[in-house]
Amino acid sequence: MTLAVVILAAGHGKRMQSQLPKVLHSLGGKPLLAHVAALAKHVSGYPPIVVYGFQGEQVKAHFSHENWLWAHQTEQLGTAHAVKQALPLFQAEQDRVLVLYGDVPLIPASVLSDFVSSVPKTSVGMITAILDHPFGYGRILRDAHQNITGVVEEKDASLNEKKIQEINSGIYVFPKLFLEKVLPLIQANNAQGEQYLTDVIASAVKEKIGIVSVTVSQEAILGINSKSELARAERIYQRRQADYWMARGVQLADPDRLDVRGDIHIDKDVFIDINVILSGQINIGAGCQIGAHTILRDVTLGESVCIQPYSHIEGANIGSHAKIGPFARIRPESNIADHAHIGNFVEIKNASIGEASKANHLSYLGDCEIGRGVNIGAGVITCNYDGANKHKTHIEDKVFVGSHSALVAPVTIGEGGTIGAGSVITESTPDYQLTLARARQVSLEGWQRPKKI
Ligand code: UD1
Ligand code: CA
Repeated sequence: MTLAVVILAAGHGKRMQSQLPKVLHSLGGKPLLAHVAALAKHVSGYPPIVVYGFQGEQVKAHFSHENWLWAHQTEQLGTAHAVKQALPLFQAEQDRVLVLYGDVPLIPASVLSDFVSSVPKTSVGMITAILDHPFGYGRILRDAHQNITGVVEEKDASLNEKKIQEINSGIYVFPKLFLEKVLPLIQANNAQGEQYLTDVIASAVKEKIGIVSVTVSQEAILGINSKSELARAERIYQRRQADYWMARGVQLADPDRLDVRGDIHIDKDVFIDINVILSGQINIGAGCQIGAHTILRDVTLGESVCIQPYSHIEGANIGSHAKIGPFARIRPESNIADHAHIGNFVEIKNASIGEASKANHLSYLGDCEIGRGVNIGAGVITCNYDGANKHKTHIEDKVFVGSHSALVAPVTIGEGGTIGAGSVITESTPDYQLTLARARQVSLEGWQRPKKI
């Protein structure tokens, strides 16, 4: 396909009431502009041309890793003026131009590609919608045969025109040669003193270029101008994510109480309870159960993992049949092997926990390697930090660490060893022995309690 895509993103976004450029506001954990660029990628093999302006350097910097083309609009003189800035960046072989808005992110990719392919190559295509409350939008003007004759902006519309409920979404596809010919001729003689891209539609009528329209739902062309519209868009986006995964066999306790803020993959027969947030890169294996109020970020779960409520897991791989939580905190660089158990109020960081090992209560396990079949008692702490540097703790297979032990790293607990409860271990311990590092218990016969004088 030889389609150029222009994304308009130079506007002020004043109504967002924010220091952050509008198109950098996040929807489903990604900037608005990233959603629109993904749409562009869906319909064209060419990198999109982004027209930037207000706070544009910040926008450009955010996407510096992308191969997009950038057209600077120094002054926001209107939508036609914005598209003009992109003209020098078209490739010679490109024959059509799709215009998208950086703040209209919810059009389904399939709707957009159907639109582009339904419009004949020599015609102008535009997406419209029928609104109960069309206030503020450009209205579609049609003749007695229902042919489009133009677009009139709210501020320029007569009382009768304001009653028209069919509105212009601002998404168009144009033959490139036509656009290159008429754009330079667009004037700014209208109520707002702006160069209107909508005037190109009137030019098409004059030039006898066919105009085709596709009408979509109001939701699909929702533009984001305020925090309130952003919140509305977020709910629409989230509901779509929930519907998508339910259609693929995921059971959600409440589709309105799941938040997806990244790229996720969920296998079959997974159950997700209420108020779960999935961020970053998430892979959830078949048969997993995710408890209520759980937050996962950059996490891979094997099969049939059970995450109990209120767990917070980031940057971790969790093996199949592991049981986590409730109230577990697993921090980045952690690997929990198959059948392991991590219980309540256990914090894990940069640690690998071997197969079927258990830390069921109240522990801090940081910078450590724990083998298979290990039992970590309640309240065990790996003392990994000496105030300046971090050190590693190694706990070999089948070790039993008694409750309330402190393992002062660097230290190795040898295979099959047992550490008596309450020990402070400062030196490595031998395999298959009991090690105690605590004061011996004494009881004093004949001892008298002090008496008040
Ligand atoms: C525009 C359309 C209107 C349509 C509406 C849909 C025109 C004249 N009107 O109106 O018919 O119903 O969109 O939302 O086109 N932008 C720039 N540079 C500029 C001006 C705008 O990049 O100089 C960008 C904005 O960042 C935004 C988009 O173009 O992404 C639309 O601009 P906006 O001011 O919201 O257009 P409207 O007046 O709402
Ligand atoms: Ca707008």
